[in-house]
Amino acid sequence: MLNEVQIKQLISSACQVRQNSYSPYSHFCVGAALLTAKGKIYVGTNIENISYPVGICAERSAFAVALSNGERNFVALALVGGSQSEKDIIKTFCTPCGMCRQFMAEFCGTDFPIITARSENDWKILTMKELLPHSFSTYLSIK
Ligand code: THU
Repeated sequence: MLNEVQIKQLISSACQVRQNSYSPYSHFCVGAALLTAKGKIYVGTNIENISYPVGICAERSAFAVALSNGERNFVALALVGGSQSEKDIIKTFCTPCGMCRQFMAEFCGTDFPIITARSENDWKILTMKELLPHSFSTYLSIK
């Protein structure tokens, strides 16, 4: 189970990596921190491109690195996103885009927690099934 210390640590990691966001087009900076069953934290930020659809979101950046390192079991993801001008105080509870929800559903159970935070002391926890109910599942389709 996820405890408060882990939640704060994940949010702190997400805030830190958010500083590396490459978002010259939207000026919306996102940081994600992913905790694995082995206790490792992988981080990712959004990386945009002049050809807009080429850009990648913070969540998929984090998952891509974790998966590339052989990780397959995930415990929780923290997400921090807001406009570039929002440094310490973030206005919005950023939630994953549709593409990221589908991407994460491939690797996470329905109860997987997505922590969306405005600061280390201000967060909400949503589950995979709340974010993507009635999802298309490869498991079901190949059965
Ligand atoms: N973005 C993310 O990285 N994650 C989200 O959950 C929402 C959106 C990025 C994509 C784009 O670089 C910028 O935020 C504005 O949409």
